[in-house]
Amino acid sequence: MKDVPVKVAANEKLYDGAYMLTVEGDLPPFSPGQFAMVEVPSGERILRRPFGIVYSDGRKCGFLYQVKGGGTRALTRLKSGDELKVLMPLGNGFPVSGGKVAVIGGGFGVAPLLSAARGCAEAGAEVRVYAGFAAAEKTLLCDRFAEVAKTTVCTDDGSAGFHGFPTAALEADMAAGFKPDVVLCCGPEPLMRAVKRLGESRGIPTYLSLERRMGCGVGACLTCTCRIAGHNKRVCKDGPVFPSTEVEL
Ligand SMILES: Cc1cc2nc3c(=O)[nH]c(=O)nc-3n(C[C@H](O)[C@H](O)[C@H](O)COP(=O)(O)OP(=O)(O)OC[C@H]3O[C@@H](n4cnc5c(N)ncnc54)[C@H](O)[C@@H]3O)c2cc1C
Ligand code: FES
Repeated sequence: MKDVPVKVAANEKLYDGAYMLTVEGDLPPFSPGQFAMVEVPSGERILRRPFGIVYSDGRKCGFLYQVKGGGTRALTRLKSGDELKVLMPLGNGFPVSGGKVAVIGGGFGVAPLLSAARGCAEAGAEVRVYAGFAAAEKTLLCDRFAEVAKTTVCTDDGSAGFHGFPTAALEADMAAGFKPDVVLCCGPEPLMRAVKRLGESRGIPTYLSLERRMGCGVGACLTCTCRIAGHNKRVCKDGPVFPSTEVEL
């Protein structure tokens, strides 16, 4: 873990409320599914905010973010050349394996999954990605997923790709013979609940990346505590990725 001074290389608006922040600096290596605590521009007196690491090549690193409240609104004002700090990499990410891997995400939950899909593909896995969005104009990272794995884009309204939830697309592939050895998931809670049910009902090891409000990101403040396998765990330090069987949703 390193607190890295970085410069903003780009802060691109993808659509209203969705941005890709690219920063440059001397960045440490990370594992798929780990996250960063990103400093919010000065003057805002706001704690750092957690974001999944979309990619990092040691010089440049990308964060995909949704505008939610004061912190993320402040991030939208960052311009090329602005300076800030990112504390990374944090937490425990996804297991990277060979075999057959289903990667399934929804909305901004796709952010930490690109590196997971890439990592498993590089480990020799047959990776299939199922990425769900409300509509065609809300899709995120789809071209990048398609570069690393067979990707099924799903939309709730059928305006692009598979018409329906990503779980339905995965189930359709399973019915056609795809038998994943592991399922990796990040997204809204209803999606994670459905993926947990699907994976566990078929005995497939399934991993979920949880989101909780965070104060420190390093295990010190207990803001992010939740019940995991009957014990109190810190999502930032013990997760954010946990086996689905340990998570109560
Ligand atoms: C490990 C981790 C990785 C994350 N990765 C990403 C990512 O890659 N892209 C992205 O867009 N977002 C991500 N988030 C969520 C992101 O950190 C929050 O949306 C952000 O901190 C909100 O800050 P804010 O100041 O804009 O909103 P606030 O003013 O703090 O809150 C606005 C609203 O968002 C809700 N909220 C705030 N934090 C969270 C949270 N952690 N989970 C659920 N709801 C929350 C609040 O309840 C409130 O309703 C991640 C969160 C965690 C814990
Ligand atoms: S955010 Fe402080 S302990 Fe997890």
